[in-house]
Amino acid sequence: MGWSKARLEDVARTRLGGAKVIVVANREPYIHRYKNGAVEWIRPAGGLTTALDPVMQACGGTWVAHGSGDADFDVADENGRVGVPPDHPNYTLRRVSLTKDDEEGYYYGFANSMMWPLCHQVFARPVFDPKHWEAYQKVNEQFAAAVLEEAAGGPAVVFVQDYHFALLPILLKAARPDLVVAQFWHIPWPNAEKFLVCPWAKELLDGMLGNDVLGFHTQYDCNNFLDTVDRALECRIDRERFAVQRGGHDTTVKPFPISVDPALADEYLVDWEDRAAAIRSKHNLGDRQLIVGVDRVDYTKGIPERLRAVDRLLQKHAELKGQFHFVQVGAPSRTSIPAYRDLTDEVNKLAHDINATYGTDDWKPVVFLNEHHGPEDIFALYRASAGCVVSSLHDGMNLVAKEFVTARGDERGVLVLSKFTGAARELPDAMLVNPFDVNEMADGLFAALTMPAAEQERRMRRMRAQVSDHNIYRWAGMLLSEVGKRVPDPLPLAEEEEEPVASEDVIEGRITRENFLTRMQLVGAGV
Ligand code: F6P
Repeated sequence: MGWSKARLEDVARTRLGGAKVIVVANREPYIHRYKNGAVEWIRPAGGLTTALDPVMQACGGTWVAHGSGDADFDVADENGRVGVPPDHPNYTLRRVSLTKDDEEGYYYGFANSMMWPLCHQVFARPVFDPKHWEAYQKVNEQFAAAVLEEAAGGPAVVFVQDYHFALLPILLKAARPDLVVAQFWHIPWPNAEKFLVCPWAKELLDGMLGNDVLGFHTQYDCNNFLDTVDRALECRIDRERFAVQRGGHDTTVKPFPISVDPALADEYLVDWEDRAAAIRSKHNLGDRQLIVGVDRVDYTKGIPERLRAVDRLLQKHAELKGQFHFVQVGAPSRTSIPAYRDLTDEVNKLAHDINATYGTDDWKPVVFLNEHHGPEDIFALYRASAGCVVSSLHDGMNLVAKEFVTARGDERGVLVLSKFTGAARELPDAMLVNPFDVNEMADGLFAALTMPAAEQERRMRRMRAQVSDHNIYRWAGMLLSEVGKRVPDPLPLAEEEEEPVASEDVIEGRITRENFLTRMQLVGAGV
């Protein structure tokens, strides 16, 4: 049976034994902000919120996040709680307020100037600043307090997201050992040599080992994590069960490749032809072929590399002049960090130079849209384009690649995809490229503009089947099933969901003898 929202709802209801679901992520799924004196809401750019919002809509519960919009607390109650999605609320968003200094130190500093370059293989030097470390500890404690309030009075499963909260799991477990705590790490995990240069490596690892379950995108990331822990801490690594035992606590470490909800494409594409026509007319694109890139403006995404490839393509293929546009949607991101501001300047300059070299009065090869765009416009561009380029220098997964595939119900379009993304492991039918190799990249763009329809169709059909089977509900279902092994009293499963109880689960006491017998009786009775 395939994974759907309904199947995930069932898993959440049965395997979590009635425990409340609490997701913690720095980024909130909906931001309220003022525009021309009125309040509007937007969905932020970035894969995490796109992926988790449908999961929360299926499971219900509370999402605890930094309230980053200037109208966020005006629309929430006195505890920072508001129902979301704003147009048909079905779960709660609990907003945590951070001071400017704490946001500076914890988010821009520790998380995004230290952890981000530390975990990505992009030759950017991490900033190790004790003041950022202090802010990171303080904000992790502040989030722990908010989660404990949300979890008060009953069993709860806390699902922590990402590198903003490496200390949160141990803080939660210390206060409430009965909480089941899982974490998903949305970015890569580097090798041990690289991670262990961090002056606070041991504290971060200890914090993460407070988790019952720890997920990464790939087995490679899991192996790197296990090696790092092995080198840094006194612990026992069980490589058969992929678990770390430390101080009497057991953390399961497994890969769970994240994905998207393919059904959303139909929702977003309702009026794609009108939207695409409006974008074409606004930017003077005529009816030329389009190649699209959609990213936060982040130095891990390889945006300058793809622009250099456009330049190379036009050098190699003069016949393509005037024939296509490269449209880069670049949502502004982390703009308080100098490296991000410098990158925006670099992209603007490259776009300007390419247009000055090759452009004419009525044709500009590069169109850089450096502003936030809603999913409806992004999906219209996916659908209207000959190809989509994802040229990350290193990326945990990259959901733009998967979104593009879900937008192509016409089974056309070429995905040019960096080998250094998690997505490349699942989508070998993309044109796989090394983003550091300008000739290979230019050839990838050429293929996007010239691939015969039959080949596009063959590749796209296989990619769509992969994303359709390995969708976001499968990701969440697999994770919740793993988490469910730590829940003391899961409800019986529907018969078709039942899995044999592994003998090691019983031996380890994860499932008590009593509820094991109850469960077996219920299954025997056909419940
Ligand atoms: O994938 C890593 C990540 O930090 C996610 O948490 C998020 O989806 C994305 O990058 C966007 O980053 P930010 O929340 O800092 O804007």
